[in-house]
Amino acid sequence: MIYEGKAITVKEIEGGIAQLNFDLQGESVNKFNRLTIEELRAATDKLEAKKGLKGLVVTSSKDSFIVGADITEFTELFAGSEEDLVANNLKANEVFSAIEDLPFPTVTAINGMALGGGFEMCLATDYRVMDPKAKVGLPEVKLGIFPGFGGTVRLSRLVGVDYAVEWICGGTENRADKALKVGAVDAVVESEKLVESAIAIIKQCNEGKFDYQARREEKKGKIKLNAMESMMAFEISKGFVAAQAGKNYPAPVEAIKVMQKHAGLTRDKAIEVEAKGFAKMAKTNVAACLVGLFLNDQELKKKAKAWEKEANEVKLAAVLGAGIMGGGVAYQSALKGTPIIMKDIAQEGIALGLKEAKKLLTKRVDKGKMDAGKMADVLNSITPTLNYGDFKSVDLVVEAVVENPKVKDAVLRETEDNVREDAILTSNTSTISIDLLAKNLKRPENFCGMHFFNPVHMMPLVEVIRGKKTSDRAIATTVAYAKAMGKTPIVVNDCPGFLVNRVLFPYFGGFVNLVRDGADFQHVDRVMEKFGWPMGPAYLLDVVGMDTGKHAGEVMAEGFPDRMKHEGTTAIDVMFDNNRYGQKNDKGFYKYELDRKGKQKKVVDEETYKLLEPVVQGKNDFSDEDIIARMMLPLCLETVRCLEDGIVEDPADADMGLIFGIGFPPFRGGALRYIDDMGVDKFVELADKFADLGPLYHPTEKLREMAKTGEKFFG
Ligand SMILES: NC(=O)c1ccc[n+]([C@@H]2O[C@H](COP(=O)([O-])OP(=O)(O)OC[C@H]3O[C@@H](n4cnc5c(N)ncnc54)[C@H](O)[C@@H]3O)[C@@H](O)[C@H]2O)c1
Repeated sequence: MIYEGKAITVKEIEGGIAQLNFDLQGESVNKFNRLTIEELRAATDKLEAKKGLKGLVVTSSKDSFIVGADITEFTELFAGSEEDLVANNLKANEVFSAIEDLPFPTVTAINGMALGGGFEMCLATDYRVMDPKAKVGLPEVKLGIFPGFGGTVRLSRLVGVDYAVEWICGGTENRADKALKVGAVDAVVESEKLVESAIAIIKQCNEGKFDYQARREEKKGKIKLNAMESMMAFEISKGFVAAQAGKNYPAPVEAIKVMQKHAGLTRDKAIEVEAKGFAKMAKTNVAACLVGLFLNDQELKKKAKAWEKEANEVKLAAVLGAGIMGGGVAYQSALKGTPIIMKDIAQEGIALGLKEAKKLLTKRVDKGKMDAGKMADVLNSITPTLNYGDFKSVDLVVEAVVENPKVKDAVLRETEDNVREDAILTSNTSTISIDLLAKNLKRPENFCGMHFFNPVHMMPLVEVIRGKKTSDRAIATTVAYAKAMGKTPIVVNDCPGFLVNRVLFPYFGGFVNLVRDGADFQHVDRVMEKFGWPMGPAYLLDVVGMDTGKHAGEVMAEGFPDRMKHEGTTAIDVMFDNNRYGQKNDKGFYKYELDRKGKQKKVVDEETYKLLEPVVQGKNDFSDEDIIARMMLPLCLETVRCLEDGIVEDPADADMGLIFGIGFPPFRGGALRYIDDMGVDKFVELADKFADLGPLYHPTEKLREMAKTGEKFFG
């Protein structure tokens, strides 16, 4: 044994060849936490000191090689000064450079995932062999940073600027065939042959057949481009990447700038440039938010896992109603491996649901994501029916019939009589109280909400809604089924709008009041899109549908009349009254026309302004800041109320719900983090400035208290 630690061991395996193996004790995956870096330093020292070694193979005995840095350490690390961050990176890089400089050939054997720091470890060795099922990549930009263990330096020299930009700025996970093609790895071999083939490479190096020193120098030298080529490569990619990433995500473009800056430098100087750029990004609020988001997501996953332990198995599901939502649920369930019965009362409904599933599956086949055989299997696992014939075998039912309390009540009661006593019943209602729907059920403990978003196959969130009588088993089974469908479930308590719509409608309230007070709706859309929303509120209403918007708005107004009831006619009413339902009938705030490719395109319609005249009280040129404040204050304050009312369990659930459910700008972390970042005191001050706009803008007592004491939602 050459070295033995808690994360790394090094031993001689044959003929002077050493094996450095990563196996972090007490963890299911290898990651670069402080301990692992320290041990890598110590292990490398031993390798340097050991006489007579002829080569090194780097391996992992976990299912994955190394999944990346330990992100739980980031918040504390990034809170340090920029200088400390630079020093920290340079210190870690000494280890990777020491590995690169070992006086014998080195090869990494990559199994599973080698991501971020894990892949940077691979890049430090002379060669890389990879399992065909493994994936490699540098996903750091997803956290608002870029590689900081020499990744921008080594990859750009190894595969060239264009591929380095693609991998680093896209944060992609790359399959073995791709990695081999671009030259990021040297061979792809079956997992059981990885070590054997790494040893073979070392032997060939030592026999003089491979020139490992030359390869090493290539990685340690300058990027091989003349001034003109360099300018072309970097400037063109900067423009392209900036357009893709958008202004709110600076890391991808900074990564290119850093590579451009160190292109003409050799390794050690280049790494200094990388470290400075990394520290600059690590100090941005975007990085703090994206890291926070990652950690919140981990929390969500942990909670779901805990529920899964209590869940009953869902071997067969059923969906009632084969409409937009029911069809989507059937498709998603079948695709992810849970067979499902799809029941409707109309043959046409069923035909429509199946047609939609077929369309989505054909798209997958066309894209090469699925073969025709698998497509047939998926379709065969959706059983269409007009009766309750097989319902005794069903473990969980999703009710997705029309949004009408009387119809739903009848359908749910009828279903309850046709399923086993232990079957779980859920409703996909968007507005009706779960307690109300539970009222006439014989087994309300087996019932809860399961709120999907449209389109089901695209939207990650499922709100699992607990009624007063819902049992833990019902929640657990529903959470587990949502997970099995590849969704992110968040458990919330029952109230009008649950979490997502309860928060979204005050935001729409902010919008209709802005229009009433003379704002141009297109201006509002532009400002909110610049703020980071995928679409502005008018456009969003067109996508949701004005009928849905109006109906849900009325339910919200009834639930929270003090702040959600509107005096007089609103812009939404005007659109609805004029049959402008949005995208579904080609006219809402905007007009929708088909472009040459047959895709719906949004165009301005002057008529909208004429129609809105009766509700607009004079023209008003609002500043961008005022628009943001008037839109965001109601949304954030309602999120605070959801937390205080116990609708959500904690701030992480609230923020993640908004990010996954309504596309809250991820780089801002969520509504509660947005308040934290502004400072609770400043936020309350801002709200007070708009107090005249009504209760939607009034902070809660508890929030005022937080403003005084300096308490925050996160940490
Ligand atoms: N469309 C959305 O954006 C969206 C989003 C989230 C939740 N929801 C909710 O999902 C539910 C369904 O909405 P949708 O948009 O899919 O509606 P839809 O009108 O497209 O589909 C409803 C289907 O239910 C069928 N149906 C009616 N009565 C039935 C019965 N007794 N038994 C079986 N089937 C019956 C109809 O034939 C129709 O096919 C509603 O509760 C809605 O609020 C909709």
